[in-house]
Amino acid sequence: MYQLSNAVQYSGIWERESQSFESHNIYKQLAQQIPFVPVLEVGCGIGNGTKYLADGRAVLALDNNEHLIAKASAQMKEAGQSAQIHHCDLFELKDEDLKVITDFQPKAVVAWFIGSHGEDIFARTSGELDVNEKSKLYRERIEDVIVSDKVSVASVDIINLVNRGTIATSCSDAEIFESQKADYDKYVFEPVGFEVYDVKVSRWDRTGSTFEYGQAHNPNFEGGETALAITSIFARRKTS
Ligand SMILES: C[S@@+](CC[C@H](N)C(=O)[O-])C[C@H]1O[C@@H](n2cnc3c(N)ncnc32)[C@H](O)[C@@H]1O
Repeated sequence: MYQLSNAVQYSGIWERESQSFESHNIYKQLAQQIPFVPVLEVGCGIGNGTKYLADGRAVLALDNNEHLIAKASAQMKEAGQSAQIHHCDLFELKDEDLKVITDFQPKAVVAWFIGSHGEDIFARTSGELDVNEKSKLYRERIEDVIVSDKVSVASVDIINLVNRGTIATSCSDAEIFESQKADYDKYVFEPVGFEVYDVKVSRWDRTGSTFEYGQAHNPNFEGGETALAITSIFARRKTS
């Protein structure tokens, strides 16, 4: 019988992967796409994205893993940056957590590469799904909380969700935009009054990466050559 990974193990594994992302300049590039407004970051990890976001922006970061929060706090100090880092679980937001968010008055919400360790994933996904499907379901469930009015409160204009995965190399940028927009608008953003207005896809160079990513079945994939990619989805609040 195998054991589920826990918060301590995950903080070590994610630290290595995050440093690999950092060595490819991924966080700096993602942060460059975010306007200079107060930003709520969901899932700070070891703070590699936080330190770029905090360069010129007020940042409130939320995370449920105290081991990662400790690493993020140390890293922010070392970088000479500051951010408010708040420990909470997105699946169990208490009144005090909601107050921290509304008091901060975020204009943008970012959630980059959200996932967690086995204990979290199994606690939040029931049923006989395989591990990869559970990881996907965990991400979808947490995205639903992120875009809800508990986290994307009335002051929020922009939501940025970033995930890694594969894209069909035969697809044009316009085709990728249309298919991602159709999916995300229907399942994630339309129910909460937001809509996708931009999708940025960049090649994901995995040199130096040892992290084991799940690969859930994609019913929309029609076959053909694929490439590893980072997909950054931008949605804004609908005005009418
Ligand atoms: C894969 S890491 C990404 C971290 C960071 N965004 C980055 O790109 O380096 C996912 C982060 O989301 C956090 N997270 C996962 N589930 C969470 C939950 N239910 N509540 C709060 N944070 C959560 C994890 O602890 C971790 O810091």
